[in-house]
Amino acid sequence: MRFMIYLGFFATQSLGENQEQEGYILTATSRLLVKANPKTMSSVVLSMVDPFMVSPLHTLSTCFQGSESTPFMAAHGMKLWNVLEQNPDFGKNFHDAMANDSHVLMSVILNEGKGVFDNLKSLVDVGGGTGTTAHAVVRAFPHLHCMVLDLPNVVANLQGTDNVVFIGSDMFECIPRADAVLLKVLLRLLVTHCLGI
Ligand SMILES: C[S@@+](CC[C@H](N)C(=O)[O-])C[C@H]1O[C@@H](n2cnc3c(N)ncnc32)[C@H](O)[C@@H]1O
Repeated sequence: MRFMIYLGFFATQSLGENQEQEGYILTATSRLLVKANPKTMSSVVLSMVDPFMVSPLHTLSTCFQGSESTPFMAAHGMKLWNVLEQNPDFGKNFHDAMANDSHVLMSVILNEGKGVFDNLKSLVDVGGGTGTTAHAVVRAFPHLHCMVLDLPNVVANLQGTDNVVFIGSDMFECIPRADAVLLKVLLRLLVTHCLGI
């Protein structure tokens, strides 16, 4: 507990009528890990420490020796998106993590960066996952028509609304025309694709 206090995950507080006891309380950091918190990041942490994500760290040397393109490929022999598809529990946790991230980030972006969305009539969220970002955008800008493009298996069972439409497709094949293209947590994917790794 001392180490966790040192790291800022807990703090101590005097308890009891005479403050004679000492107890532990959550901090701003650990409150983000509470699942019941609407702004929770618990799935982000759980998916990033999942063995699927951690085991590639043990394959760095194979990767540096040049036999595999990325540590993830060296560990699993396939891309992250295939692992997510073939392991539904991990897949769900990963997409929940992206939704957690979108929930927190979009509340800031829609508050501080409203101007970005002014004058737009349509938007395509490329690699938009399960649509948390798109739903947040249309809640703030109900006149906007939002398309969420992601891999077919990710969007297969998702229900759209009047102004959020899910498209199951490969972004490297085609991206629908829209006034703006949103790439959130995705540029790395495009860079690695362009570099052919
Ligand atoms: C890191 S996640 C980001 C999700 C979302 N943009 C966000 O910020 O929460 C990357 C997303 O890209 C999707 N993706 C990966 N390859 C893709 C492809 N070739 N075409 C379309 N989507 C793809 C994945 O399924 C995943 O949902």
